[in-house]
Amino acid sequence: MNENVRPADMKRINTIENAQAFIESQLTALRAQIGSGKVLLALSGGVDSSVVAALLVKAVGQQLTCVHVNHGLMRKGESEQVVDVFRRRFGANLVYVDAADRFLGKLEGVSDPEQKRKIIGGEFIRVFEEEARKLEGIGFLAQGTIYPDIIESDGVKAHHNVGGLPDDMRFELVEPLKLLYKDEVRVVGAALGLPDDMVNRQPFPGPGLGVRCIGAITRDRLEAVRESDAILREEFAAHGLDKKVWQYFTVVPDFRSTGVKDGKRSFEWPVIVRAVNTVDAMTATVEQLPWELMQTLTARITSEVKGVNRVLYDLTPKPCATIEWE
Ligand code: XMP
Repeated sequence: MNENVRPADMKRINTIENAQAFIESQLTALRAQIGSGKVLLALSGGVDSSVVAALLVKAVGQQLTCVHVNHGLMRKGESEQVVDVFRRRFGANLVYVDAADRFLGKLEGVSDPEQKRKIIGGEFIRVFEEEARKLEGIGFLAQGTIYPDIIESDGVKAHHNVGGLPDDMRFELVEPLKLLYKDEVRVVGAALGLPDDMVNRQPFPGPGLGVRCIGAITRDRLEAVRESDAILREEFAAHGLDKKVWQYFTVVPDFRSTGVKDGKRSFEWPVIVRAVNTVDAMTATVEQLPWELMQTLTARITSEVKGVNRVLYDLTPKPCATIEWE
């Protein structure tokens, strides 16, 4: 039997009850695999790595070390939530690395999107490696690989943009979710007691807000992306759209336009709002937002976000546009 193939008779996990059964069988399997060994996990706070962390804490407790690298390109409040949920509520052994200055330093003046992705991915693996080297006796590396990763990309987590760890750091892999689809991972997360907004989190690219701060990243423009994204998420939640729309975010391009603020001429950035629906991210349609919401977003973003004087809505489906701007 190929352990990377989902058995034909494997039941769909779609209720808390059958998620509990999956969790029980995984706890047994994880304890059998890991024994008294030590496990390392890169915990981004995305759905998959969060569910793996929650499962492993239950299975092996302090034998697990989670490393959360804050690359400075996270959404507002996200790193704080990871620390709060896993350290305080789950009692996990969590190393928090604030690497924002390091990443932003490397990215200074770099405008090519693929180059930006390479720098972020490469730096991520270096920071993770440094943290791993500080720990002793690690034998296992846990990963949030899910079934679509196995089917679509030969078991490599899609879009991670990171190379592997060096040869002297080859650990045995622990991949408890590798036969599950995304919706099943969410049910398992809920059954493990992860917060609702973590379990139902929209997809977030590995390079984070870095690909939404167009061109060469500057701290002030990055702050405008982060603050406008936070307002968008708040308003989508208030309008019940957070569970309906597949992915929604803001983009701040690297040009400015003329406006008037407080009776004076302003020359500031626009914020572009994007909200799309898709099944597989290969094609996407644009969500038809209520006019009242668009007005609220415009009013809030132009008054609350520093350096912004205009709000635009991106009406372009994929194709011909991609979902992200870079
Ligand atoms: P595009 O822009 O290609 O995006 O239509 C399709 C989906 O992939 C996500 N995306 C990424 N995810 N690293 C990631 O982890 C990346 O470099 C990356 N680029 C795009 C995007 O957010 C969307 O969900």
